[in-house]
Amino acid sequence: MYRARLRCYAFGMKAWAIKNYGKNSKLELLELARPVPEADEVLIKIKAASLNPVDFKIKEGGLRRIINYPLPLILGNDCAGTVEATGKDVTGFTAGDEVYCRVDKHKIGTLAEYVTVRASSVARKPRTLSFEEAASIPLVGLTSWQALLTVGKLSAGKKVFIPAGSGGVGSIAIQIAKHVGAYVATNTSGRNLQFVQGLGADQVIDYTKEDFSQTLRDFDLVFDTMGGETQRKSLEVLGPGGVIVSIVGPPTPEFAAEEGLGPLVKLGAFFLSDRLRRRCRRRGLGYHFLFMRPSGEELEELGALLDQGKLRPVVDRIYPFSKADEALSYLELGRARGKIVVSW
Ligand SMILES: NC(=O)c1ccc[n+]([C@@H]2O[C@H](COP(=O)([O-])OP(=O)(O)OC[C@H]3O[C@@H](n4cnc5c(N)ncnc54)[C@H](OP(=O)(O)O)[C@@H]3O)[C@@H](O)[C@H]2O)c1
Repeated sequence: MYRARLRCYAFGMKAWAIKNYGKNSKLELLELARPVPEADEVLIKIKAASLNPVDFKIKEGGLRRIINYPLPLILGNDCAGTVEATGKDVTGFTAGDEVYCRVDKHKIGTLAEYVTVRASSVARKPRTLSFEEAASIPLVGLTSWQALLTVGKLSAGKKVFIPAGSGGVGSIAIQIAKHVGAYVATNTSGRNLQFVQGLGADQVIDYTKEDFSQTLRDFDLVFDTMGGETQRKSLEVLGPGGVIVSIVGPPTPEFAAEEGLGPLVKLGAFFLSDRLRRRCRRRGLGYHFLFMRPSGEELEELGALLDQGKLRPVVDRIYPFSKADEALSYLELGRARGKIVVSW
């Protein structure tokens, strides 16, 4: 083990990292130390990574109240690749296994040649998917799974509104909701109407022409991927006992407690969400904020559905590793149709 550690330290790796936080912070291609797996971790040699809006939010410093990563910070939360080495307590994986994962929140960095991840966050790559397709799934797949099924308790016959159905989250969320037999409404711009219908949406609203809150009624669940005006209007869409599960905020005191965040952050979450929670309570609605969690087990379940053809990956563009900075700039435009992937 000691020798293995020395070998890893002796090697460097290429990685896209930031040296400071802020709107003008730039991704730079650096030579950094190759990470060494802890006892419960695997070292993954990355073949593909996908990008998520959280990557540019982290770059801008938007998540520092929740997680303050040391600099330089390698960006990237999703990857697919092969196991290079395992920590001494890992039993489920061996070198050479093809895997995919959403890395642990406190230890990100998939825009690199290698990353270490707790084995419990890792799953076998769906065998029918390429590394690029597999890398597109973890963060958005787990987010949708947890928002719709774990928190939102969506089941057959229930009605769910999923705004922005053409985005990275929306495009897999529609498929998961249809898989459990729910009725799905979504909104998107005119250029994506057919695309979201093709994913299975039952009702599609062109947000450039129509106001969803005038059309949709008596829904059981809103999976809020947009916040702002969309979130405010979502209350009109829900029937009695309906629930909003938001992944964009505001965070709640319950979330702050679950994450073990300090009293000031808890107080901040209370005030940020107070108005919305009161509006929901007055109408007999529920409000939850979700910050998704990595899970190897849930990824195995998603992988089975992908291999059975019940879900499919939605990849908009694939960039080479040398152009990961361009990939992030494209994602920041907010027009992605599905996922943006970086390939080695
Ligand atoms: N809390 C968590 O754990 C968690 C997890 C995952 C994601 N998130 C957050 O969830 C949000 C969505 O993520 P994402 O990956 O889906 O983003 P994304 O892929 O960048 O979303 C892009 C899509 O949004 C659509 N869109 C833009 N404006 C719209 C509008 N006004 N109405 C409807 N659709 C609109 C665009 O379609 P058009 O081009 O047709 O407009 C585009 O297809 C982000 O803020 C992300 O940070 C949070």
